[in-house]
Amino acid sequence: MYGLINIAIRDLIKSKFGEQQWLAVLSQSGASDADFVRMRSGDDAMTYALVGAASEVLDMPASDILQAFGQYWTEFTAQEGYGPLMDAAGSTLPEFLENLDQLHTRVGMMYPDLKPPSFSCSDITENSLTLQYESERDGLDDLVIGLLHGLGTRFEVEVSVQLVSSKADTGVGSVFHVTWS
Ligand code: HEM
Repeated sequence: MYGLINIAIRDLIKSKFGEQQWLAVLSQSGASDADFVRMRSGDDAMTYALVGAASEVLDMPASDILQAFGQYWTEFTAQEGYGPLMDAAGSTLPEFLENLDQLHTRVGMMYPDLKPPSFSCSDITENSLTLQYESERDGLDDLVIGLLHGLGTRFEVEVSVQLVSSKADTGVGSVFHVTWS
């Protein structure tokens, strides 16, 4: 994944747990400076290694790290100059979720090696929808759950997310039931 992702993981850990804990995670992960160059596309294994190292050093399940990272991502991207891109994707949670693929298409204009996920919405009601998540990667359901909560904060709604089925079990993408109030 692009260095931008690793930078966000670094900033999250530094800001929540401090420099010393970050240095321990860094050394355990085996990452080097090159992994923290924003526009450089690196091996996915390094990003997974950072999450694994954080889980060991901070003694937290990897699922909690992924969820915290997802939540942080919506703030981080807004701070890092992608606010207008986020604003253009919609002014309500369901509108934004429907435009996620378009958002990543735009991101792909700046990051040509991007391998983005794909999302689609169905069963849309006033306060719920079904979200289908497809990716060439595995094990990122908790990231999506965190992202959805981060978007809840952005749109000032209380979000709850239920994992209906996981790619880990079905091999064909994951499905979430999302409600908000
Ligand atoms: C302006 C805001 C955003 C930017 C700049 C951005 C950019 C990126 C980048 C660079 C990656 C790494 C992929 C790669 O290197 O191949 C990525 C992955 C991902 N993005 Fe976004 N993204 C944004 C917003 C969002 C939002 C709001 C969601 C909410 C669902 C989201 C969901 C994901 C997921 C789940 C992945 C993991 C990759 C995968 O599942 O295969 N992104 N994004």
